[in-house]
Amino acid sequence: MITIGFYGDAEEAARWQRLLAELVPDCLVVDLFSDSGRMCDFALVWAPPPNTFTDLTNLKGIILQGQGVDHMMADETVPRDIPLVRLIDPDMSDALSHWAILNALDFWRNGPHYRNQQQQRKWKPLKQRRSSGGIVGVMGVGAIGSVIASRFAMLGFQVRGWVRTPRSLEGVEIFAGMEGLVAFADGAEIIVSVLPLTPQTTAIMNESFFDRLAEGAFIINGGRGPQIDDDDLLAALESGQLGGAALDVFRTEPLPADHIFWSHPKISVWPHVAAQTNPITAARQVADAINAMMAGEEPANRVDWGRGY
Ligand code: GLV
Repeated sequence: MITIGFYGDAEEAARWQRLLAELVPDCLVVDLFSDSGRMCDFALVWAPPPNTFTDLTNLKGIILQGQGVDHMMADETVPRDIPLVRLIDPDMSDALSHWAILNALDFWRNGPHYRNQQQQRKWKPLKQRRSSGGIVGVMGVGAIGSVIASRFAMLGFQVRGWVRTPRSLEGVEIFAGMEGLVAFADGAEIIVSVLPLTPQTTAIMNESFFDRLAEGAFIINGGRGPQIDDDDLLAALESGQLGGAALDVFRTEPLPADHIFWSHPKISVWPHVAAQTNPITAARQVADAINAMMAGEEPANRVDWGRGY
């Protein structure tokens, strides 16, 4: 019997049990904090409280229900000597790319402006932006970012990608490392971040970055909140250097009720929903990770603690 300790509600646990039963021989999904959960072989979690893993003596691996691992990196009680596996699900790449394209096209075709005019019953066309599309810079061109970048290219946009280490991607001009950041940003009209949060990417979108972009550029952040310097963002929106921002991630989540972003006319707030985990598609990956670890093999998508994701 393989016991999977799940952190979440009973309904979700029952759903994972149904899905995993077909893919992992003889497995049982239990509440991670129950007596049998404390004896589990694997933990299936998203954001468990600190000290969750300290007395799990049978634990062979931890599987995350999402891509981002910064919260696990920040918790020193998460064991470093067993695999931590993150989910890299094409279903989430699809969802995130739809969200990014939705916001980019809405900005490009002046959606916020015309919605505002509608409220005032005003009929006043703006000059249409280039129908060939603008310059889009995608920050983070891994599993998700490469899908986003390729889809923007298919729409006719001129696409740049910023990565840690150089790679090639058809139809996308790649810029690598901090030394490539200025050229990447230069004149870009739309920025989409799906970066992981690391010391290098913290506050990477700041005043000097915004200053390199085209005037009135639009920021789409589906990465992590701390990648934006919030004060610099507000100043750039105020000066007009930025034309707007669509944010799905924030320094504090849920976004506090009194936060200025809620009522800012140039910011759209999304409650971290750009790509939600779909257990139906994710179950295959969770099962593959468990089956690999049970066979003593290295699971795919194991987090590299040194690299930070
Ligand atoms: C969501 O933000 C994730 O990291 O999966």
